[in-house]
Amino acid sequence: MCGIVGYIGHKQAVPVLLEGLKKLEYRGYDSSGIAVLEESGIRIVKSVGKLAVLEEKISNRTFRSNIGIVHTRWATHGRPSDINAHPHMDCHGDFVVVHNGIIENYLELREVLKKEGHIFRSETDTEVVAHLVEQYYEGDLEEAVRYALTKIKGSYALVVLSYMHPDIMVAARKDSPMIVGIGDNEYFFASDIPAVLKHTRQTYIMEDREMVVVSAEGVKFCDFYGNEKEKCIFEVHWDPIAAEKGGYEHFMLKEIFEQPKALKDTLAGRLNDDGVVLQEVDLSPKDIASFNKIAIVACGTAYHAGLIGRSLIERWAKIPVEVDIASEFRYRSPLIDQNTLVVVISQSGETADTLAALRESKKQGARVVAITNVVGSSVAREAHDVIYTWAGPEIAVASTKAYTTQIESVVLLALYLAQAKKTMPQEWIHEIIAELRVIPFKAQEVLRQANKIEQLAQNFKDVENTFFLGRGLDWAVAQEGSLKLKEISYIHAEAYAAGELKHGTLALITKDTPVIALATQRELYEKTLSNVIEVKARDAKVIGLTFESNHNFDQTVDEIFYLPDTANELAPILAVIPLQLLAYYVSVARGNDVDKPRNLAKSVTVE
Ligand code: AGP
Repeated sequence: MCGIVGYIGHKQAVPVLLEGLKKLEYRGYDSSGIAVLEESGIRIVKSVGKLAVLEEKISNRTFRSNIGIVHTRWATHGRPSDINAHPHMDCHGDFVVVHNGIIENYLELREVLKKEGHIFRSETDTEVVAHLVEQYYEGDLEEAVRYALTKIKGSYALVVLSYMHPDIMVAARKDSPMIVGIGDNEYFFASDIPAVLKHTRQTYIMEDREMVVVSAEGVKFCDFYGNEKEKCIFEVHWDPIAAEKGGYEHFMLKEIFEQPKALKDTLAGRLNDDGVVLQEVDLSPKDIASFNKIAIVACGTAYHAGLIGRSLIERWAKIPVEVDIASEFRYRSPLIDQNTLVVVISQSGETADTLAALRESKKQGARVVAITNVVGSSVAREAHDVIYTWAGPEIAVASTKAYTTQIESVVLLALYLAQAKKTMPQEWIHEIIAELRVIPFKAQEVLRQANKIEQLAQNFKDVENTFFLGRGLDWAVAQEGSLKLKEISYIHAEAYAAGELKHGTLALITKDTPVIALATQRELYEKTLSNVIEVKARDAKVIGLTFESNHNFDQTVDEIFYLPDTANELAPILAVIPLQLLAYYVSVARGNDVDKPRNLAKSVTVE
């Protein structure tokens, strides 16, 4: 997820662009850059680091321009660096582009363009757009951009500026957001509304597969075939603070609702007709055959994703897997060596315990794969291979979209290993991939029931203890649900293997004790039902979470929340969403600081 702002009008462009970009830093902040069009040509300044570094870099320079683009980056392809920062230009600096999204076929496009003589400067997917426009430019910028788009696969919101057309900017969007702001003889592009609110509340929300040509005279919208389109103005009534959260009250709720897109983005370019493709993992079938054990190491929510990974890798790739809390891993003298694959999971990529476990593993000769959400993070730089979750920046301390995309990543890794070891039939792999492709849409279906969870949450306002029960993968998800509730509502919660409750903790279940029982593992329905009957016999209040096709629990639980049916192994991605929402709404009901809960930090960089 990146931030884009474009401007054309009567003001000096640089201050307008930088001020607008500041409102979008939540969308990405590992590097930034600006391009403005002056009489002498296009001037570009880029810098790794936060926007303040770019501002410092240009503070003693003079610009005279009324048209420009600016970008703040959340790296996906190409580590954060000056050269990988946007904007990117073609061979001769006649065209510059800023982009938000993922170009899935950028490697093949680079090869084709290199054969045509194009010289690439960066490691990014975005740079191919500038060279494509250069390749197809025959005097009409709009046409060149339109033709370039026919070659691109993936998601994008992009703005193109050209020295040959100093009075227009061309933009296009597919799957990534872009709005057009309408000022007084001035026009704006932005990834999100906050960037333009100081200047205008009159906007056009670009729709998928739409292009727009903006000039000082006005805006022209068309589809990708060049057919002009009429659009209605969207008048913005948000206040600036609310706008940074996309109109949501908290970043956490915004990030919960971003999950369908984060899930879709994390799959982008990683599934094809043959199965899973992990370009960024350089493990040969021989390497994979050499692993006699896998150790997954992480903290908190990432550790809970690791629990899912253990089940799936053992079930599909038939490799023994251990899962460790990173702060414990090093001190138990783990038996790891060159035949061990260590998988470290970390949203921030900076968690000290996880980084220490990674370094210890490398010292012992193990191969280390990282799953992280931050390109260029310490974990990403020090691991041998990295699988990025493309969830975009996660601002709220309570991790949500990072968790579900981490589960997606361990699913991809488990399938990748199973493919290499041929431990699962190809038709079965195709079936699970077909279901994986629709998971983002099913996540959207779950989110549409958010108001039901909001109502259930009101019953938790004065609760002091809660239990989450589940078996198998449901137990792993129960642990994540318990952590979510604890860390933002401050209610004591405990996740328990449903079959283990009777060995002691059942003593804590009394009248009206809230219990959330997960039942998505079809082969365990009956066993889980008997555990629910156990707690109901002690007058607990039970909320059941199961598939819409399962009505075994209807008569037993007090409340039930149905999930769209999916494969057992993919159920955790959907089952956690109601638990995230429950924690969120309970925290709001209790008046807590949802995004910044007491005592906690987003990234724990101390041991
Ligand atoms: C998650 O909601 C918590 N904020 C916390 O447990 C977090 O998952 C843990 O600190 C690990 O962080 P990381 O993924 O950035 O390594």
